Amino acid sequence: MHLSAFGEKFKTDSGIFSLMADLDEALNRNPDLLMLGGGNPGHIPEVEKALRTAMQDVLANERSFERAIGIYDSPVGDQNFLSALAPVLSRELGHPVGPENLALTNGSQNAFFYLFNIYGGRDSRGRHRPIVLPIVPEYIGYADSGIEPDLFVAIPPQVEQIDDLFFKYRLDLDALKKIETPGAICLSRPTNPSGNVLSPSELQSLAAWAKDRDVPLIVDCAYGLPFPGLVYEEHHAPFYEPGMILVFSLSKFGMPGTRTGIVLGPEETIQAMGRLNAVLNLACGSMGPAIACELLRKGLLLQLSTDVLRPHYAARRDRILTLIHEQRARGGLEALRLHLPEGAFFFWFECSGFGLSDRDLYDRLKKRGVIVVPGHHYFPGLKTPMPHRDSSLRVSYSQSEERVLAGISILLEELRRAGS
Ligand SMILES: Cc1ncc(COP(=O)(O)O)c(C=O)c1O
Repeated sequence: MHLSAFGEKFKTDSGIFSLMADLDEALNRNPDLLMLGGGNPGHIPEVEKALRTAMQDVLANERSFERAIGIYDSPVGDQNFLSALAPVLSRELGHPVGPENLALTNGSQNAFFYLFNIYGGRDSRGRHRPIVLPIVPEYIGYADSGIEPDLFVAIPPQVEQIDDLFFKYRLDLDALKKIETPGAICLSRPTNPSGNVLSPSELQSLAAWAKDRDVPLIVDCAYGLPFPGLVYEEHHAPFYEPGMILVFSLSKFGMPGTRTGIVLGPEETIQAMGRLNAVLNLACGSMGPAIACELLRKGLLLQLSTDVLRPHYAARRDRILTLIHEQRARGGLEALRLHLPEGAFFFWFECSGFGLSDRDLYDRLKKRGVIVVPGHHYFPGLKTPMPHRDSSLRVSYSQSEERVLAGISILLEELRRAGS
């Protein structure tokens, strides 16, 4: 049967589809698997308790429950929630934000599909305008989201070696300057998969580049500030200038099931989001915003991010680093390299020194009951070779500590075996 060029892309599994299928298998159907793959947040009792109480508050308040369950929201989303969120974002970002600058989507994944196709692709003069990913590896979920082919152009990073274990990806601004007629520029901060956090001054350079070309800088804050706030270095402050687009999500706070994404941007962007919502969804789900309203009312969205989520994942990260250092001290892992884990809940293992590809490692680990994500999926739009592309793994540390440590121990064992 005939398929459009867009339809052709969905004849076979995409990276994000395989990742979500693995996640379903490990978390829903085969709980013996050690899930270090997909980006599911962890179960954190204090957060879950606050979410349960917020849900009970929604249920107890007849008006709020009847509204959430029984009425389609406005195309840009629940106005109560947006009006309560706007002053919080103004305060946190240091610039005025009104409800007219905010729209909701059914998860931020949905927002990226809209934004990439609003700004990327053929413009009214027939020019192809790509979405520029200024640093890869970058989020697997962007790939395949362009209605037009070749939507992304990716720039490989400069790799700064910090010591004999850690490295950090840095922007290559000279390469960026060579890109003509972009549609928009987008990055995740913290970056999924590497755990990188670009500095405010690096973002300032990207914002200036985007302003000069009259295109938006889109920053994906799914793991970032101010919620869920998984940024571990004090100097990595939030960065926002009017004209930019920031995309937030309630998923990594602990609510992936309600599918709540939040877009902050210029009014014309927000209106376009609302129009797309109406076409694709009629309206967004209302239960996430209703719960989040209760959290905002009690000041819990930010407080739990700062006082519970960030310390929880930072402690987990440190525990894993201790394990890695202990294992390295025993020998056989000298070739292991890691990206500096500055944010989110991922480690990016670079394993070229062990002579195995990311696919081989993925297969070996799956046979031993450990699910990770092969790194090659995280390079949407990359046209040139890049050393780390086929030799890296993304390892999530969000699930129970015991299981994560067990999974990482098996990974280190496999690497040691491959290197011997
Ligand atoms: C970097 C990044 N952006 C966006 C998303 C989409 O999340 P959601 O649609 O649940 O808001 C994810 C999900 O894992 C992500 O890792």
